Amino acid sequence: MELRVERDSDIDSWKEVILVYNSALKQMSTKLEILNDEFQHIHRYNPIEHIKSRIKTSESIVKKLKKHGYESTIQNMIQYVNDIAGIRVICSFTSDIYRIAEMISNQGDIKVISVKDYIVTPKNSGYKSYHMLVTIPVYLSDRILDTKVEIQIRTVAMDFWASLEHKIHYKFEGNAPDYIRNELVECAKMVSALDAKMLTLNEEVLGITKRKE
Ligand code: GTP
Ligand code: MG
Repeated sequence: MELRVERDSDIDSWKEVILVYNSALKQMSTKLEILNDEFQHIHRYNPIEHIKSRIKTSESIVKKLKKHGYESTIQNMIQYVNDIAGIRVICSFTSDIYRIAEMISNQGDIKVISVKDYIVTPKNSGYKSYHMLVTIPVYLSDRILDTKVEIQIRTVAMDFWASLEHKIHYKFEGNAPDYIRNELVECAKMVSALDAKMLTLNEEVLGITKRKE
């Protein structure tokens, strides 16, 4: 069943919608923790470093609707704002990203709506991450609501870059001077090189440990 609210001026509807998105985030976080624990049990290693989740503020929701030319109704927010519930999964290595994405896709109750691989195709800014838009069922007392969650999966290094770039973007209100943008693109290349080197090093170390066993 799709999440639908008829009386969109009703404050209770807003609260109910947020409650549902919050529940979706809780479910998703628990799923990821379970997958991480199971992975640790089998492979003796955690693919997930940490998880951050957030609900989009009402101001941001309204801003996004406006930007895309939609009226600020609860119905529009449910239909058009895909990142009301957002979860960020931070891993050590690029290979972990694809492992986690596959584990998520394999969950029977999760539907993958779309995927954007900004690792294979980084943004012009230099931004790299793996994005998934999924729905997860939220079980209420009388209904099951398939609820959208935006998942961003990235390495610690990619996250470090994205945090700084976000701060700079915010500070210059999206109009950072060219030399700073170019520096950020250079930093993004360094992040990719670091991620590649760390992955190779880790694989070498794992190889040595295996031979010793
Ligand atoms: P939004 O309107 O920003 O949600 O864009 P979109 O719907 O086209 O989705 P997209 O996959 O491009 O980006 C969604 C989210 O990824 C953003 O809200 C940010 O959290 C993150 N993101 C995308 N591009 C950048 C970037 O250049 N820098 C940083 N720091 N984050 C980014
Ligand atoms: Mg967004």
